[in-house]
Amino acid sequence: MRHDFDEIIDRRGTDSEKWNNYPPDVLPMWVADSDFKCPAPVIDALLNRVRHGVFGYCKDDLEKVEKASAHWMRTRFGWDVRSEWVVFSPGVGTVLSLVVNAFTNPGDYVVVTTPIYPPFSLAPAFNGRKPLSSPLRQGQSGWEFDFDDLETLFAEPRAKLLLLCNPHNPTGKAATEAELLRIGELCLRHGIVVLSDEVHCDYVFPGRKHIPFASLSPQLADISLTAINPSKTFNLADLRTAGVIAGNVVLRERYRTAVTNAKLGRSSLGLLAYEVAYTQCAWYVDELVLYIKANLEYAVDRINRKIPGIRADMPEATYLLWLDCRELGLPQRRLVEFFLQEAKTALNSGTSFGPEGAGFMRLNTACPRAVLEEGLARIERACRAAAAR
Ligand SMILES: Cc1ncc(COP(=O)(O)O)c(C=O)c1O
Repeated sequence: MRHDFDEIIDRRGTDSEKWNNYPPDVLPMWVADSDFKCPAPVIDALLNRVRHGVFGYCKDDLEKVEKASAHWMRTRFGWDVRSEWVVFSPGVGTVLSLVVNAFTNPGDYVVVTTPIYPPFSLAPAFNGRKPLSSPLRQGQSGWEFDFDDLETLFAEPRAKLLLLCNPHNPTGKAATEAELLRIGELCLRHGIVVLSDEVHCDYVFPGRKHIPFASLSPQLADISLTAINPSKTFNLADLRTAGVIAGNVVLRERYRTAVTNAKLGRSSLGLLAYEVAYTQCAWYVDELVLYIKANLEYAVDRINRKIPGIRADMPEATYLLWLDCRELGLPQRRLVEFFLQEAKTALNSGTSFGPEGAGFMRLNTACPRAVLEEGLARIERACRAAAAR
């Protein structure tokens, strides 16, 4: 099968968060969903179900979704997941809060590596826990963990949980086996539970591969839970699904209790899309990853060669570009205004990912090439005009 990722689909007027937030002359390149249609088999299955026309409560039989999750992990990443390890959840954002509440007590510390997708810090903070931040460092070979710093934080008596983002949003880092093993070793030494958010796992580019944290050893599987969701890959975020995989029955049942008690519900449409995506649509991902890689290469080349004041490195994973705009010399509020008012593009402000994001903006490249070209042309014009002033 082939999917047309060049197709331009008008998302205005569809309640899209990304497309409805700004005036029509601003091109949105922010929220981390894609502008692509989901794969045809998912659309067909949903249409069939919708035509039935009855949407009463759906049965609590999640076997298909559990099996689909295990199948995806096994076939894409060589991780031998058993379907009974999977607990269905309504979104990885929700998982972060549930895990914080299930595995820590008020006043406990939760370690995160910043800059980071905002709910990693907000879920602990909103629930009366303290996020402890270990900034990533920009080294010779890309973004690096500061293991000494991590160990100092894990050694805090109230530190209980690491929220690991692998692959990492917003830097696009895909952690190596050696890095994950070292993090795991530190967590084992200090009794830290790990939630590995692997929602971006399908977007890892040649040269790196996605390594599920829990797949590396029985010991790491024993202290961790892994969150996945076909939402990013197949553009299904609004169907509110996710799977949490935990081989350790104690962690799994504690998490399951948190989900059950929260009475969050699920929809038959979400369950159906989840299953079809993970069992019938691997071909879509193979095409998508090549499309995104080409988009990113094009963007990085154009930015570094033609856009004064901005620099970008090719990410190892994700469709997100972490733009270093420090040379523009603008305070963050002005930087955001510059993109919105002068470049007429909406990007995420770097500081929404933590104070380390000052001078950075996040650009989403999961859109047709023509849209990306238009966005970069706008940014280029604005930066050239600013440089000429
Ligand atoms: C790292 C990360 N985790 C979780 C989410 C949200 O996932 P979900 O749509 O499953 O709530 C996002 C969305 O941008 C993300 O980037």
